[in-house]
Amino acid sequence: MQRYAIIGHPVSHSDSPQLHNAAFAAHGLDCTYEAIDIDPAELAERIAELKSSGFAGFNVTIPHKETIIPLLNRLDEGARAVGAVNTVVHRDGVLVGFNTDIQGFQTLIAPYAQSISTSVVALLGAGGAARAALHVLTTAFPPKRVLILNRTIERAENLASAFSTSGTPIVPESLFQDGLQDLIKTSTVIINTTSVGMKPYTDASPLEDVKFQKNQVVIDLVYTPRETALLKSARNAGATVAGGLEMFFNQAAESFRLWTGKEMDVKKMKEMMEIG
Ligand code: ATR
Repeated sequence: MQRYAIIGHPVSHSDSPQLHNAAFAAHGLDCTYEAIDIDPAELAERIAELKSSGFAGFNVTIPHKETIIPLLNRLDEGARAVGAVNTVVHRDGVLVGFNTDIQGFQTLIAPYAQSISTSVVALLGAGGAARAALHVLTTAFPPKRVLILNRTIERAENLASAFSTSGTPIVPESLFQDGLQDLIKTSTVIINTTSVGMKPYTDASPLEDVKFQKNQVVIDLVYTPRETALLKSARNAGATVAGGLEMFFNQAAESFRLWTGKEMDVKKMKEMMEIG
């Protein structure tokens, strides 16, 4: 039997155990997948434990996607370009980091490629998920400009400078400022990569008092709940909205392929999880 997991803090909101266990069963694989809550202060020792107890791989979520990097033996090209890891493969005592958020995010935003490449994009957040999003945006669908809006401005500045050679103008901004409404008004596409609005704090929105417009596309990487407070207010204003479910399934399918060499039947998995 092979063991897999998702590590995070918090991690109880994740639907990954349900999805991967269903996919293992569908392929007749003798594997299990569990959620493991790891306090940031204990990350190094807990990763060593996962390694010694023979876990074959794991997903990495908030807030470990960047801090895990020094604990890994190698990074694949995508994870290195992004500067964050959401999938680890463990083989023969070697931990290799990948970033399947790249494929997940690409699939999620593909229908909006035209809007993205002709407009200003407001990216909310500057963590690991924002890094993957910025990598995809600047390489696949370069917008006219990207505004990085983050609670901690230094983190937004660091992310902007990490991508300063991308060819896309990137402007760091505070998420808490008087000019927020105007900044959002100038952005046609708004993408939330923060955890604000995720279960159990579903009343929260990273853009609480902001008004949206009909011509805007608002994308939220959060998938629990399926419609966040942010998306609800954008939809009520007539904007086009998309939740994080498509990204969730596609990043999972890519992780599954890396671990098992097999293709996850995403359509079947969606039906099985009754969210088709
Ligand atoms: P991940 O790797 O999944 O992106 P992360 O690195 O912990 O997770 O990043 C979480 C993001 O959500 C960050 O941009 C964080 O803002 P800070 O850089 O200021 O920490 C943002 N975030 C989390 N909780 C938030 C809150 N209550 N309000 C605003 N932003 C928040």
